[in-house]
Amino acid sequence: MHSQGPPRFIPRRAFCWGIPACHFQPAAQTRGVKVLVTAGPTREPIDPVRFLTNRSSGKMGYTLAGAFVHEGHSVMLVSGPTDLDVPENVDYIPVETAAEMHDVVSRYIGKMDIAVFAAAVADYTPATIEPQKIKKSGDTLTLHLVRTADILGSAREKFGFTGTLVGFAAETENLEANAREKLVRKHCDLVIANDVSQPGIGFDSDHNQVLLVYPDRTESLPLASKHELSLQLVDAIVALKKLMVES
Ligand code: PMT
Repeated sequence: MHSQGPPRFIPRRAFCWGIPACHFQPAAQTRGVKVLVTAGPTREPIDPVRFLTNRSSGKMGYTLAGAFVHEGHSVMLVSGPTDLDVPENVDYIPVETAAEMHDVVSRYIGKMDIAVFAAAVADYTPATIEPQKIKKSGDTLTLHLVRTADILGSAREKFGFTGTLVGFAAETENLEANAREKLVRKHCDLVIANDVSQPGIGFDSDHNQVLLVYPDRTESLPLASKHELSLQLVDAIVALKKLMVES
């Protein structure tokens, strides 16, 4: 459960959960846009055998990473633990905790043109990690939790990121309003909102349905496989980046 030393940088590792090999082959020409994608859950250790985590298979972030590569861009994928194979031609940095993800993102985001935050980062972590397995000694157990750093929320002011900033919003109610609040509070250019209370989309599923929440408008994309959706999202994000550069 505990990570062993600093996160490892694993360049250009291979491939890819359940996607036909031809589908995400890199385009012949790299168009030079550098993209950071966060994905998967984080694990916050309680003791040597237990941790707190969030639901996330990593599929949404991994398919997005693969789709950016397919469209000729270069991708660094910073991911919490998942069972997925890493898309081909993606630079991959595995992490465990929110603190590790924060450190890796802070180190690399300055080199990026686009940053997309699909990870389900734990919002709280145990205040202390018990060095030994906690013994069962009563009917209840109280854990003291502290807030983790908001990685996406740190991108602009703390990390000084000036590129295209894209967050996700995992909501169970008031999808558009909650996503728009995150767009403003976290200084994003776009928030991709999914309703994770709906069966068949969001967490774990191979499908998703999202709203694209921009500062000046909201667009709805139809239910699609995460593969198809990722290609649409890449188009939307790259178009947004171009608009920002031109204006
Ligand atoms: O992985 P899958 O099983 O395919 O599921 C996909 C998904 C549902 C996890 C994905 O589509 C998704 O919604 N990811 C964001 C999950 C989330 O934690 O959302 P949030 O609304 O709690 O967070 C808002 C944004 O802030 C997210 O971009 C999140 O990455 C970021 N965040 C949150 C907390 C934190 N401490 N640091 C962050 O960077």
